Amino acid sequence: MVNQNNRTMRLGLLGLGTVGAGVAQILLDPKGRHPLLTEISLHRVGVRSLHKPRSLHLPPGVLTTDLEALVHDPDIHLVVEVLGGVEPARTLILRAIAQGKHVVTANKAVVARYGAEIFQAAQAQGVYVLMEGAVGGGIPIIHPLKQALGANRLNRVLGIVNGTTNFILTQMAQGRGDFATALATAQSLGYAEADPSADVDGADAADKIAILATLAFGVQVSREAVYCEGIGGIQPVDLSYAERLGFRVKLLALAQRQGEYLDIRVHPTLISQDHPLASVQGVQNAIVLGGEPLGEVMLQGPGAGAGPTASAVVGDVVNVAATLRADSGYHPLLGAPATRPIPQLPMDEVQTCFYTRVLTQDQPGVIGQLGTCFGRHGVSLASIVQIGIHEQLAEIVVVTHQVREGNFWLALAEIRQFPAVADIPTVLRVWS
Ligand code: HSE
Repeated sequence: MVNQNNRTMRLGLLGLGTVGAGVAQILLDPKGRHPLLTEISLHRVGVRSLHKPRSLHLPPGVLTTDLEALVHDPDIHLVVEVLGGVEPARTLILRAIAQGKHVVTANKAVVARYGAEIFQAAQAQGVYVLMEGAVGGGIPIIHPLKQALGANRLNRVLGIVNGTTNFILTQMAQGRGDFATALATAQSLGYAEADPSADVDGADAADKIAILATLAFGVQVSREAVYCEGIGGIQPVDLSYAERLGFRVKLLALAQRQGEYLDIRVHPTLISQDHPLASVQGVQNAIVLGGEPLGEVMLQGPGAGAGPTASAVVGDVVNVAATLRADSGYHPLLGAPATRPIPQLPMDEVQTCFYTRVLTQDQPGVIGQLGTCFGRHGVSLASIVQIGIHEQLAEIVVVTHQVREGNFWLALAEIRQFPAVADIPTVLRVWS
């Protein structure tokens, strides 16, 4: 599909809402991203209205309201569908495929219900349909399920796959307002679906777990059969009782094999505070995959919003572009992209915080001497405390702010020479 003389892959974008604008922004500013992005041009952008005010500066003549014409445009190689909702998205995807175009979509509602039809059509036409943005926002989950985890017999997928509801539950649990306030904030941040009931009622999470289960278990999942309960009935008092009992309330999406059956459901669930999913807060999503021989792996990241979802969508675009280039004997994704060499920051220039434990004589003025010495070398201290006595020596623990590593070591070399200093047994860096 890509013109071999002129390597440019021309892209038609359906939808310029939150995610569409994020996609366009990346494509129009490819510097510093994957080199293949410089070979992709944004040819047409299909929108509902030409007159809606937009902050994005698109090349002139790119916008169109004729979505049908876009998917039939012979100059377009790949259609990115980020309209959301079932129709006209499903029909447009099928038309694009019928025209021999590759498709990248973030549309979980369409993939969960019509995935079989769409992938069959794509197979028949010999085109790719990729959908990393449909589940987990910016978390790479579809691609690992299709490829990197292929050696495993997967037996369980368990996750928080809706950012809006996780954001709402986190806000409520932290006493930052009621359900309505938290939902309004989520909407203003671009996390929620156009119709937020899809988030709140669990339908969005049910679409996503249906897609994940299909990939994990290689079976066809009926979306209608996914049990689904939302968070609408949860009261703040339940969140605080759960907390007191050692739990947290999360909207969990689960798919696991139960004998001959697939147990697949979405509902609010109390989960032990010790479980890694319990500490997934705000708009973050996380998915735990269990399999043999892998054991369990958890993937976590921003699950909604323009940037993260656009990151997944454009990742798929790069994937298609790379695969098409592979047909001409060069596979850009098999090696690291060739870029110019870059010098590595010398350790002395690294900026970091430090923790150090110093053993000194227990006498007046020692802490002052340490502080003054660090200060002279430009090392700012976050804290300095004498914790106790260890083998008749005072144990002083120092934590610095972000400092230049070289300065810290110069100060420490001087401190080692102080007559009152017996030993500096530990120096650790602090991640902040
Ligand atoms: N509305 C979805 C969520 C984002 O809150 O997770 C896209 O799937």
